[in-house]
Amino acid sequence: MQILDFDELPSALHPQVAAMRWLDREAPQDVAFVRRLRREGFPATDYFGVYAVEGGELLSRVETLALPWRGGGETRTVLGISDVLTRPDAGGRGLARRLLVELHRREAALGRPWSFLWTRRSWGAHRLYEKLGYRDVYSAPSSLRKIPSTVRRRLPPGVSWRRAKVPDFARLEQILSAATRDRFGFVPRWPGSFRLKHRLGWRPASSYRMLMKSGRAVGYANLTTELTTVEAHEVVVEDPADSGAMIAAIEREAAGQWLAFGSTSFGWDHRAELSSRGYAVYPLSHLTLMARPLHRMARGERSASEVAADPRFVCHRGDQF
Ligand SMILES: CC(C)(COP(=O)(O)OP(=O)(O)OC[C@H]1O[C@@H](n2cnc3c(N)ncnc32)[C@H](O)[C@@H]1OP(=O)(O)O)[C@@H](O)C(=O)NCCC(=O)NCCS
Repeated sequence: MQILDFDELPSALHPQVAAMRWLDREAPQDVAFVRRLRREGFPATDYFGVYAVEGGELLSRVETLALPWRGGGETRTVLGISDVLTRPDAGGRGLARRLLVELHRREAALGRPWSFLWTRRSWGAHRLYEKLGYRDVYSAPSSLRKIPSTVRRRLPPGVSWRRAKVPDFARLEQILSAATRDRFGFVPRWPGSFRLKHRLGWRPASSYRMLMKSGRAVGYANLTTELTTVEAHEVVVEDPADSGAMIAAIEREAAGQWLAFGSTSFGWDHRAELSSRGYAVYPLSHLTLMARPLHRMARGERSASEVAADPRFVCHRGDQF
């Protein structure tokens, strides 16, 4: 079995690279798409991923990101494992383990302090990661409430609410950067992220709403609707004092439906307010962020779990992976 980088894969394997995602029922992504991601600034690692190849077949692969990590002192680059997949007919042979061990080796050599990944506590993969030294460090909280169809329609004086358009992305980026300036985690987010995700169709401009005060955007929310639930996985206000107006504006939009503050720190930062409004607040979900050190920690250095437990830790929709 050979371990190859993306650029080392022979072109005969390109169709398998695209199709393999389908085994996990995710849409195929062809090589042209990967090239576009890299060209347009998506924070993939230089090598994009590592691929286990044997007998002209792609058997297993791990895709990777290079993400910022602010843990107190300087911002460091860390490894984000974005996708791990082994063909079912090649499972149990130690392929995923070997790819991950190879990643740890090469990223440690680059001086990366941590490797992170998201998984579910109940998945078999969780056991694999634990065996390799990963530990749960964070789980996204949730707050849910069925919003009455008679919910108050009027927003506080001077406040308005509108759909974002592409030219608004620069302002949304500014709001996110101001709101996370003094916080820890996968910040700052890479420049141009809103625009690229819009262009890829992952997060269209129309899924963003802006909270306006005196004609100026002071916060935004990314909203999607799944059946009867309006889901808010990224809600950001520049000034925490605007949280009430933000909740009122989202509730107005979710009238008659469930409203879920999901993988966004907003739900946790403002849990007292949400709880007093009748939301069920859960501190954990089955989704978990795991971390593994790639180096011996320096004296006084804060571990990933210490950083993630700090009230200043911030995380919106998994922060990019
Ligand atoms: C999870 C997955 C990547 C494992 O790939 P794999 O190549 O079969 O894993 P390996 O053979 O390298 O397993 C390595 C170790 O992890 C353990 N492990 C792997 N899958 C496991 C499972 N489902 N339950 C318990 N342990 C598991 C193995 O027991 C093995 O331990 P050992 O080395 O001490 O014997 C593969 O099953 C898969 O692609 N699943 C579907 C996609 C998925 O869930 N990806 C993870 C998303 S976070």
